[in-house]
Amino acid sequence: MKIHILSATDRPGSNALKVANYVSGLMNKEMDNEIFSLQDYPFQDVVGGRYGDDIESVDEYNERFLDADGFLFVVPEYNGGFPGVLKLFIDYLPFPEALEKVPVSIIGEAAGSFGALRPVEQLQGILGYRNALIYPERIFIADVNNTFDENDGLSSDFLQGLLEDTVKGFAEFVKLNSQRVSVNL
Ligand SMILES: Cc1cc2nc3c(=O)[nH]c(=O)nc-3n(C[C@H](O)[C@H](O)[C@H](O)COP(=O)(O)O)c2cc1C
Repeated sequence: MKIHILSATDRPGSNALKVANYVSGLMNKEMDNEIFSLQDYPFQDVVGGRYGDDIESVDEYNERFLDADGFLFVVPEYNGGFPGVLKLFIDYLPFPEALEKVPVSIIGEAAGSFGALRPVEQLQGILGYRNALIYPERIFIADVNNTFDENDGLSSDFLQGLLEDTVKGFAEFVKLNSQRVSVNL
């Protein structure tokens, strides 16, 4: 079984990718995993509203991304929501089957003190609409530039414990709930 971890922004040097890397290290103890970053998504090929077209680069990205038993989204807060590029990515996933009954987990990170509560809850609504199985424990990393270190994790022992438990719990949730349906690209 395998989990794909998505760094949900295309911003160079992003904290989301650093968090994804750190979480991947924790997840290595539990389950195979691979990091995907929206920095590598072929956004240039969807300009002009190419919904429903066969776009080779997008199909290729989606096929690689969707080949997993569970998805962990690391989501930053941009203007009180999740990054627009994440919605574009979701809008070009195969509909309706891409996330159907697939376990998903969300970690938010933000410079602000609400720790990406808003984007995490927005994404939960959309993943729920797409019939994903949402792992109920969420992680909110507030003041990320001062509370997270890419080698050592979270400065708060309490939050670090929650993060470790959540990663472990999500791997168990994937094992128990994976009912992957085939995806047609
Ligand atoms: C376009 C943009 C909008 C942002 N808006 C918010 C915001 O609404 N609330 C907040 O707490 N931080 C906001 N920030 C700060 C980011 O949450 C913070 O820098 C975060 O680590 C960015 O994630 P990233 O490094 O993965 O891009 C914003 C940053 C950017 C680039």
